[in-house]
Amino acid sequence: MKLVLLGPPGAGKGTQSIELSREYKIPHISTGDILRESVKRGAPLGLKAKSYMDKGALVPDEVVTGIVVERLKEPDAKSGYILDGFPRTLVQAEDLDEALKKIGSGIDMVVYFETSDKIAIERLSGRRVCRSCGFNYHVKNIPPKKEGVCDKCNGALFQRPDDKEETVIKRLKVYEDQTKPLVDFYAKKGILEKVSGDLGVEDLFKVLSKIFADAKLR
Ligand code: AP5
Repeated sequence: MKLVLLGPPGAGKGTQSIELSREYKIPHISTGDILRESVKRGAPLGLKAKSYMDKGALVPDEVVTGIVVERLKEPDAKSGYILDGFPRTLVQAEDLDEALKKIGSGIDMVVYFETSDKIAIERLSGRRVCRSCGFNYHVKNIPPKKEGVCDKCNGALFQRPDDKEETVIKRLKVYEDQTKPLVDFYAKKGILEKVSGDLGVEDLFKVLSKIFADAKLR
């Protein structure tokens, strides 16, 4: 199953991707995670990306598309993958189509997580991430058992620098201007499914599982 998860920051794409990756045994490919990992390692890519990410702006298309196209060539992506946070502009979507066409492949389904700015802001300002394993929590919705400590690996939890309210507002505007047009782009191709990102984590996972089963995706 070759999936794209589309939606505003905070819609729950990353949270669902982790569960879907486990259930369907396909890799979760998050451009945000790849870029943050490069920033952490001080890699040239990270140095280039950091200034954009800190401002809540998009990293240039050619940088991000190159990363994804290379990642999709890895053996674990042969039978399927979940693209989370990519594509994010029409140029990225067209370049992805082109790259997949060259290898006789294509996206099976794009799931659009619809949510309001109010919920996105509330979720992102409460998000805490494990510094060691990257697992996401939310101070109210999905709290860790012990404050500030990851349940999975005992790592310390921190707030992403781009989750400060003023940067979140900028990210939502960037989403509206540059990413939302992809909803129409994929609807016209007949591969768009809409879900409510406002559902709880487990309910949304059930909805997604049913959509994939109905579409006979596995
Ligand atoms: P990225 O990391 O992709 O951030 P994003 O798209 O803004 O997505 P988020 O991770 O903020 O939201 P999400 O929908 O995954 O929500 P999550 O599940 O974490 O990108 C970061 C930056 O990298 C970009 O700003 C840009 O600079 C750069 N970048 C990345 N990709 C790029 C690209 N293709 N092109 C150019 N630049 C790119 O959940 C959020 C919170 O809510 C968590 O606390 C979670 O615990 C909680 N939560 C999740 N689901 C639920 C639920 N159902 N109910 C209640 N709470 C929930």
